[in-house]
Amino acid sequence: MDKFIINGGKELEGEVRISGAKNAVLPVITAAILADGVSVIRNVPDLRDVISMCSLLEVLGAKTNFENSVLTIDSTGINNYHAPYDLVRKMRASVYVLGPLMGRFGRAEVSLPGGCAWGPRPIDLHLSGIEKLGAKIDLDGGYIKASAQKLKGNYIKFKKSSVGATGNVLMASVFADGETVMENTAVEPEITSLAETLVNMGAEISGIGERTMKITGVDRLEPMDISVIPDRIEAGTFLTACALTGGKLILKNAYADHIQAVIEALRRTGVKIESGKDISIESDGMFRPVDMITDVYPGFPTDMQAQWIAMMSVAKGNSIIEDTIYHDRFTHVAELNRLGADISVENNRAYIKSVEKLIGAPVMSTDLRASASLIMAGLRAEGTTTVQRIYHIDRGYESIEKKLQAVGADIVRIRD
Ligand code: EPZ
Repeated sequence: MDKFIINGGKELEGEVRISGAKNAVLPVITAAILADGVSVIRNVPDLRDVISMCSLLEVLGAKTNFENSVLTIDSTGINNYHAPYDLVRKMRASVYVLGPLMGRFGRAEVSLPGGCAWGPRPIDLHLSGIEKLGAKIDLDGGYIKASAQKLKGNYIKFKKSSVGATGNVLMASVFADGETVMENTAVEPEITSLAETLVNMGAEISGIGERTMKITGVDRLEPMDISVIPDRIEAGTFLTACALTGGKLILKNAYADHIQAVIEALRRTGVKIESGKDISIESDGMFRPVDMITDVYPGFPTDMQAQWIAMMSVAKGNSIIEDTIYHDRFTHVAELNRLGADISVENNRAYIKSVEKLIGAPVMSTDLRASASLIMAGLRAEGTTTVQRIYHIDRGYESIEKKLQAVGADIVRIRD
């Protein structure tokens, strides 16, 4: 398994181009199932999760081709509705095929995704939403078995905001007879971009970007030709990394309005951020502590919680970080403490006692964003940090070591 060797203490200086968003492209790929023909998706990041999702679509009978950030998907030949456990267990987002398969074919057999590094990840809201559209859903042998003659529009109120459930039910509803109204939907930019993609394909959706969306069923959709929005979490990760190491970064192809909560939080620490066409940050590596509570969009994203904890570990004062979305997403804390941080966790709160410095050591990645926090900490730490099991980071960050090397970081990938 590959690992990163990082020699810390170097400032980051220069320009970073932000890639297409993992959490936007994954549901857009499954939306291609809804239209017969060849869809074109541009600005696609070269990530393990993208490759996994393309493999899943090929299992269903689609043909995919991915080169130079352009992904084409021919869904004409889809003739299999079974998403197998060995693919779904690797990537929870595979469950996004459920909605489009039910929308277009009225049949789907999708393995239950199982848990992840930080605990159970239920999909009850996905299933109840699709059932409200008239589907019959059974759980049998670890698989979701769903079927419907023809889905019918209905009123669906989500008991809590869920990105995945909103995306899945939205895709299931585009051909449903009549009108569907979804309330308390997620409004993350990735859902807005999915809805806009579906409209690009011919769907009738209103209330995009709001917490109530209305969908009027249509008979068919045309293949898409769209470009993926920039990855707001990658952008936030590079901003916090530069705040932590010190230096000056300019982020190209990033949408500041998608990460206002992160930008405001960084400004409260005292680092300098300008946002216009690009986002620029300047830091001397010293900053005030800022307590944080994660929330659904437009609040501070849970996917930035680990990175924020890494940064706060050496702030000029103590801080508390609470994750209201996932109550047990703290597997990175024990590894950060191996680097000299002084963090304790109680329920869904991390209590950070700031330390003077971090000291390099061997650490282990446990999940995607935890890996990012360990890399950031290694960039700050004195001495050498080895980050193992970096296949996690390759799921969601395109060539992260190359992007960091280009702005002065001393990081190399050792292929094991
Ligand atoms: C998406 O996951 C993202 N993944 C996650 O990013 C992100 O952390 C999460 O949204 C929250 O923003 C993708 O988009 C591929 P949710 P998703 O449904 O859709 C509970 C990353 O690092 N819930 O919004 O699975 C759930 O347990 C990944 O890129 C139910 O109870 O998240 C959680 O507490 C990690 N029942 C909360 O809702 C359900 O049916 C929010 O989950 C679904 C979710």
